[in-house]
Parts: sequence; structure tokens; C-alpha cells
Amino acid sequence: MKVITRIADLRRLRRGLPEPVGLVPTMGCLHQGHLSLVRKAREENPSLVASIFVNPIQFGPGEDFIRYPRDVAGDLALLEKERADIVFMPEAVEMYPPQFDSWVEVGGPSGRLEGASRPGHFRGVTTVCAKLFNIVQPARAYFGQKDAQQAAVIKKMVADLNMNLEIVTLPTVREPDGLAMSSRNGYLSLDERRAALVLYQALTLGRGLWEREERDAGRIRREMTRLIQKEPLARIDYVSIAHAETLEELARVTPPALISLAVKIGATRLIDNILL
Ligand code: PAJ
Repeated sequence: MKVITRIADLRRLRRGLPEPVGLVPTMGCLHQGHLSLVRKAREENPSLVASIFVNPIQFGPGEDFIRYPRDVAGDLALLEKERADIVFMPEAVEMYPPQFDSWVEVGGPSGRLEGASRPGHFRGVTTVCAKLFNIVQPARAYFGQKDAQQAAVIKKMVADLNMNLEIVTLPTVREPDGLAMSSRNGYLSLDERRAALVLYQALTLGRGLWEREERDAGRIRREMTRLIQKEPLARIDYVSIAHAETLEELARVTPPALISLAVKIGATRLIDNILL
């Protein structure tokens, strides 16, 4: 496994890799959710590149860029075990030199939900992913359903801009009690960790109502909201039932629908979703 920090070195090494190449972009502090992507990419491609880059331009002012968890030694050990061929770990100035001033901005699903709560977030995500796709030139890139809107936005970018790769999305990996794995779960105190379960409970409630033939999206949102409001440590950012690709809010629930939510548990903002 080669650990590369320079774009020029990555390009040089890339030329010698057997095709096709699978790419798993991450911000590090890897957990089983990330590793599920790495394993699938390893299975499906003769060559595997993983990137670890805490992308400054996708964090807003006042967000957790500075304290975002980092564990390079742990990450490299895990990726070595999964037989990654290359780990790309650039410094911020390598990706964004002082003269950098070009951006990839996707319309449609970018403006809603996470995009509305975190202005500029998806512009940062799509810009860095476009750069990574150009640098690594993978045949496939792997994303988690955990960030369903991110996956929808990236798929739209790839389709709209005719990028020559396939976006593969894989199911959310959860803790045994249902909490979606996230690098940010490490911020939670013991009490908050217990309270954080309310996200999955609300999603399960929503899905249960759907399974019992409830089609009124407003009613499902209200029931979910009521459940979350019973948890004193939780503060709702949004509870959404939307079309899974356009992320437009639905009045009546018809598949493919995405139930998603963002909830602050103490100071930690968590997101989760279920696809109907
Ligand atoms: P990061 O949060 O590190 O996540 C990297 C990838 O792992 C994303 O595709 C995310 O959806 C996936 N992932 C995270 N938790 C998961 C879980 N519990 N189950 C399954 N997949 C999970 O998402 C980013 O980084 C960044 O925005 C990035 C795409 C790297 C661009 O900077």
C-alpha cells in the first residue's frame, strides 16, 4: 500500500494500476461504515484507491472543521488490512493552492435539507469529488446511503457533467442498537449517546406507519417529530419525507421516498435516513 500526498505522484502511480480502479473518498477516522465501502470496492475492482481528506471547503463557519476527529495511524492500519493499493492523503494547499477559484455547483437536490441547513456544503462536496474523480480517474466511486442526499447530488453531478464513472451507493452500517455509524458519534457523552437513539427510533416509527398503509406524509412527519421532542437532549433541525432523487418534499408518500432527519443531540448534529 502506497501512501501519497502529492497529486503528481498519485497520477504517476495511477498509470501503472490495473483497470478498473475503484475509489472510496473519505474524511478519515474510519469505522465499519467506511470499511463496508472499501470492501465492496476491493471486491469489484482490481485496483483500490482510498482518499482521506478533511475537506475544508465543505464546512461552514462555526462548524466542526478544526475539531473534526482525525486518526491517520488507525486509518492506515485499517486500509492496509483491507488491501488498499493507494491511500491519497493530500494537505489542504495541495488541493486548494492560493490561486484556486473554480467550483462545481449542482442544482436540484443541493438546495434542500442539508443544503438549506448548511449553505455551501454541497458546493464543497461536489468540488472536491470532481477533483478526486479527475485526479484518480476511477471507473467506480463508492458512497454510503448514510449520506443519501450527498449520494443523490453526486449522481446528479456525474450525470449532468458526463463524468465517466459509476457511482455505487451502499447501505448504512449501524451499531447493534440502530445508531448509524458516524465519525461524529465520538463527540457524544454517555447520556447523549443514549439520546441519539431517538433518530433511528423516529425513522423506524416512520417506516412502520408507511408499512401500515399511512400515505399522508404530514402525518408521518408529525408523529416522528412528536417522538423526537420527547427526548430532552434532542433538538430537531428537519424531519423530511421527500422524493429520493429530487429531495422534493412529498405530500403523499410514494416510492422512491426518503425519510431523513437532522437532529442536534447536545452540540452534535447527527443525520440519518431510511429509503422506502
Ligand atoms: P465521510 O463522512 O468520511 O464519509 C465517507 C463515505 O462513507 C461517504 O460516502 C459516507 O456516506 C460513507 N459512510 C459514512 N458513514 C456510513 C455508514 N454508517 N454506513 C455506510 N456508509 C457510511 O462523506 C464524506 O466523508 C465527505 O463528504 C466526502 C464524500 C469524502 C467528500 O469530502
